[in-house]
Amino acid sequence: MNAIQPPASGRKRLHVITWGCQMNVYDSGRMTDVLAPIGYAPVAEPEGADMVILNTCHIRDKAAEKVFSELGRLRRMKEASGNRMILAVAGCVAQAEGAEILARAPYVDIVLGPQTYHRLPEMVAQASRAAGAVIETEFPAEDKFDFLPESATPQGPTAFLTIQEGCDKFCSFCVVPYTRGAEASRSVAAILREARHLAGQGTREITLLGQNVNAWHGEAPDGSTWGLGRLLRELADVPGLARLRYATSHPRDMDNDLIAAHRDVPALMPFLHLPVQSGSDRILAAMNRKHTAADYRRIIDRLRDARPELALSSDFIVGHPGETEADHEATMALVRDIGFAQAYSFKYSPRPGTPAAGLPIQMAEDIKDRRLQALQALLREQQARFGAGCVGMDMPVLFTGAGRHPGQIVGRSPYLQPVHLSGAADLVGTESIVRIVASHPNSLAGTLVQERQIA
Ligand code: SAH
Ligand code: SF4
Ligand code: F3S
Repeated sequence: MNAIQPPASGRKRLHVITWGCQMNVYDSGRMTDVLAPIGYAPVAEPEGADMVILNTCHIRDKAAEKVFSELGRLRRMKEASGNRMILAVAGCVAQAEGAEILARAPYVDIVLGPQTYHRLPEMVAQASRAAGAVIETEFPAEDKFDFLPESATPQGPTAFLTIQEGCDKFCSFCVVPYTRGAEASRSVAAILREARHLAGQGTREITLLGQNVNAWHGEAPDGSTWGLGRLLRELADVPGLARLRYATSHPRDMDNDLIAAHRDVPALMPFLHLPVQSGSDRILAAMNRKHTAADYRRIIDRLRDARPELALSSDFIVGHPGETEADHEATMALVRDIGFAQAYSFKYSPRPGTPAAGLPIQMAEDIKDRRLQALQALLREQQARFGAGCVGMDMPVLFTGAGRHPGQIVGRSPYLQPVHLSGAADLVGTESIVRIVASHPNSLAGTLVQERQIA
């Protein structure tokens, strides 16, 4: 992260609050970029800001209620500013519940969905004319990426790059196809341009983002169509880029060439987040995942054949409507068999307008709680075992920033674990070999083996 400086006088202060997934983090950066030419510079606090953007997430729980409670807090700041502060709500709640936001929070000036961020300067101009609230939640015909400027501020040693957005999969439980729209891929040329730009600013590791990132396909310079595997090979040749990752992928789009890329592309880090959601075929079918537990196991076997040291992460939902004890046990068995280095697990949360929310057999909260606790205990144990297995290993660590104490730095292992060690601040942005000396629940501790920068 960059230190956020107070803007020079005459400039307007912009504060962005980001909730939700990595794509929202990327989007908040792009909204900041698109507002820079009209004089907005980021500040760390909302107090005294000329504009606040609340970038929201709709994936689980009481998403809308959380937004209204935060808006109540921001409203008081807006009033304290003599109503000068422009208040914008962006992201997936804005997309899903834009009209409701304006009805319940009429002090909001701008409501904009994820596909309209390039129109933000125009919306700000409109809001400044005080002609009433501006709402943009249509899915526009033009591609926002054609209009968003390149980031002027360096992203640091690691950065996100959205290559694909939207989802056509319609899992029974999920709002994303409704909030992000249909699957769309950016072109090879646009992705390479942005990757080179990031590398030129000092970024060493790029995580390619998409709601279904491995559904990405793009027209290549020679007119043929590339998939993600081919794109990764190309990105590995961008000067300055040392590491590549991608998230989040779907098991159904794990094609042969992408699996082969895990074998052939050393820059592709040996860590993959591949959500499975459940280990029960009955529930996977009810979820409309269009794959079985055996399909998932086969894909993992093939990936491990391609890259034996590959560490895995996944997403799980417990308590989908109709989930029995036997279904839950099938999930536990899959976790035991595969072994994850890290994972996210959630209680099923009914989302308005999704098919699963209308199913008759909703599970009781105490059953969901019990299943989640059992699953998380198993996943925590696997994560601890994976961390403990790293102790004594020498591994390349990309240094990403200063540590909590003076003389400490923090970096990222190939498996995405934070690694803390003693080291000079000027190592940030370089990659060196670190010996892992201890593992903690969510991080590792190490010592520098080799001061020399790798590559
Ligand atoms: N596109 C990705 C992830 C999208 S959302 C994929 O297809 O895997 C991230 C995670 O949130 C999902 O993988 C799922 O585990 C969880 N999630 C989505 N909707 C949910 C809901 N209604 N209740 C609980 N968890 C949910
Ligand atoms: Fe949601 Fe399923 Fe699409 Fe992932 S694949 S974004 S879980 S609908
Ligand atoms: Fe949330 Fe939208 Fe991302 S619902 S998880 S911010 S795609």
